[in-house]
Amino acid sequence: MLFEIKHVTKEKPAQTANSSVSADSILRDLNFNIQGNEPQLILGPSGSGKTTLLRLFNRLADPDIGDILFHGKDITLYDVCTLRARIGYVSQIPIMFDGTVFSNFQYAVRHMKNGKEQINNFEDKCRELLSYLNVPDSVLYHNAEDLSVGEKQRVALARTLIRNPEVILLDEPTSALDPTSTLRFLDTIQKLQNEMNLSVIMVTHSIEQAKVVGGAAIILVGGAIVEQGPVDKIISNPDNEITLKFVRGMLDN
Ligand SMILES: Nc1ncnc2c1ncn2[C@@H]1O[C@H](COP(=O)(O)OP(=O)(O)OP(=O)(O)O)[C@@H](O)[C@H]1O
Ligand SMILES: [Mg+2]
Repeated sequence: MLFEIKHVTKEKPAQTANSSVSADSILRDLNFNIQGNEPQLILGPSGSGKTTLLRLFNRLADPDIGDILFHGKDITLYDVCTLRARIGYVSQIPIMFDGTVFSNFQYAVRHMKNGKEQINNFEDKCRELLSYLNVPDSVLYHNAEDLSVGEKQRVALARTLIRNPEVILLDEPTSALDPTSTLRFLDTIQKLQNEMNLSVIMVTHSIEQAKVVGGAAIILVGGAIVEQGPVDKIISNPDNEITLKFVRGMLDN
């Protein structure tokens, strides 16, 4: 099992001292497993806790209550730098480091034991990843800050992939892409999962995108899981009234 999430609760910061699960905790007593052999989607309306949950998987934040196991071992027992190299994270709003796209790649591998000196043909590898994600490799020596948001999103993913992670956490990775680029990107995500053996964990509020990516899903509403299971089943035949409303786009936040 890739991840086991057990009784995970995350309070709003001011309430951290209070150890009980309050009604307005950000995440409330989450329990589910992630197999890793298919994409895992985290679906839910805006403000439901998706980003907060995703950040727990590489310890950008920790739960106040509950445990997360990674390969059967408590996630807090791993060295945090090693963990973050193994579990890459691409944030909802892409942040570029100062300098060129190439220096962004260099920065990503600077602390790795097998850093850029060890990665054969480092520059070629960077170009290859950009092309793989449909960003022209001519941007390699452009100032990263000058890229469009959609390009930044894909460079942020390429910058994470250069570290050769085993899991990739994607937070609304297509929010700045047009429909054609979105479909192409979702196709790439499936390839990462199926051909490159990466485990993809992806946050989205889009039912359409969930259908394209497939795999397993949880539906998060108000910080709690209202339904979990195969994406197709959840979308076509949900057990839960709230899920049905969400799928039909009729759920108020
Ligand atoms: N540090 C914090 N302090 C207080 N409230 C917070 C904090 N972080 C998140 N929240 C609140 O927790 C809720 C969940 O936030 P989160 O960013 O996880 O939602 P989301 O599902 O990712 O939403 P979106 O789809 O808009 O990105 C929101 O109501 C948010 O305001
Ligand atoms: Mg979010």
